[in-house]
Amino acid sequence: MSTFSALQRQRDLFLVGLSGQRPVIPTDPEQLAEAARAKMSAEAYAYVAGGAGRELTVVRNRSAFAHYAITPRMLCDVSQADTTVELFGRHIPAPILLSPVGVLELAHPAADLAVGKAAASVGLPFIFSNQASIAMEEVSVAMGSSPRWFQLYWSKSNELVASLVRRAEACGCEALVVTLDTTMLGWRPRDLDLGYLPFLRGMGLAQYISDPVFQALLDEPEEAGLVTPQPKVNVHTLRALIQLMQRYPGSFWGNLRSKRPLRAVRQFINMYTKPSLHWDELAFLREHTQLPILLKGILHPEDAHRAQQLGIDGLIISNHGGRQVDGAVSTIEMLPQIRTTVGANYPLLLDSGVRTGADVFKALALGANAICIGRPYVYGLVLDGQAGVQTVLENLWADFELTMRLSGCRTVGEVRNAVLRA
Ligand code: FNR
Ligand code: LAC
Repeated sequence: MSTFSALQRQRDLFLVGLSGQRPVIPTDPEQLAEAARAKMSAEAYAYVAGGAGRELTVVRNRSAFAHYAITPRMLCDVSQADTTVELFGRHIPAPILLSPVGVLELAHPAADLAVGKAAASVGLPFIFSNQASIAMEEVSVAMGSSPRWFQLYWSKSNELVASLVRRAEACGCEALVVTLDTTMLGWRPRDLDLGYLPFLRGMGLAQYISDPVFQALLDEPEEAGLVTPQPKVNVHTLRALIQLMQRYPGSFWGNLRSKRPLRAVRQFINMYTKPSLHWDELAFLREHTQLPILLKGILHPEDAHRAQQLGIDGLIISNHGGRQVDGAVSTIEMLPQIRTTVGANYPLLLDSGVRTGADVFKALALGANAICIGRPYVYGLVLDGQAGVQTVLENLWADFELTMRLSGCRTVGEVRNAVLRA
């Protein structure tokens, strides 16, 4: 793991500038997105950047941070600072995690592997997506002993859920995150108008294809009444079909003959979420794992209370980066009330719209133990693979550390005690 220095990071950027160069990874969040957009296909950028509906919640996730202001304190001896936090018994060097993001192959061929290595190089936890492009076992090996968690989408098959949980434990994941806000995909005009859903092309299915329970399901006779996509056959469908056959493990001709990749996509579409999921079913997970369980997508204080009552170990307050319910509240505006509801010691993480060191500071001061970021690291991956992700993480970390010290805080504990002006 690298020894990180915020001031060194800042100096490095200025030194690069002295030799007439501009950084590959802009520090400005909008420019970062813009630079990535220029390198991505229209479909890939739409999928990553887009949100539900008019994207009011995507905007609100950002604007809500501006409603809170930091009141810096002076003469606090900020010659040193310690950004470490403890989460579920593990020391993490900064209160920053990588949110689970599916289909990272849209950003870079090394996908989850590059992100896992970047996270490991700075020691920050990577939450593997259920919709990853590379199986969790392969990414785990590349991460050594560095922290990783697994995010679960509760599918229609409890056997598959149990299998994914077993695999996550076996490959060293230290917590399980159950995402609740995606019992179905939100209405996303950018993707709808391009008619683009990566899963239909066999992308983002690595955790399924590598799963013994999922594979066994493919060997069974297909249930009657399954939803079967039947597009008009033309040059576009043929191209998509060829890509699907190429992507799936095994030989191209073998795949074409067996039609297994098509069967896998159909199976996935028909089982990947369980809209009927209910609070009572969380007990199933508890029976199947000793790992800490977090719920992701909680926004209402009463849901937070109920989770706590049920013995859930922590929450990720999230609106899925504004991708699910357009017009939903921002996470930062709900945080203070949720913190009051669950008490001082309950683990609360937050994502959706965190972009700068000041955002991280504000989230911690309002009650979060740590934050997660999504899209920014995807843009880093687009621009410079593993190194790009590492730079995005280090830039946010440096910005946070400088904000913290300039505000008079030497530890994350002091940040959490800072009082913001609303
Ligand atoms: C996501 N998110 C997500 N969440 C999850 O639990 N499982 C997943 O597979 C995905 N996939 C996914 C793909 C893409 C392209 C994006 C942008 C997001 C949501 C993600 O974990 C996180 O909640 C948001 O990205 C956080 O918001 P910001 O930082 O992107 O604003
Ligand atoms: C998304 C799913 C994969 O947001 O979570 O696209």
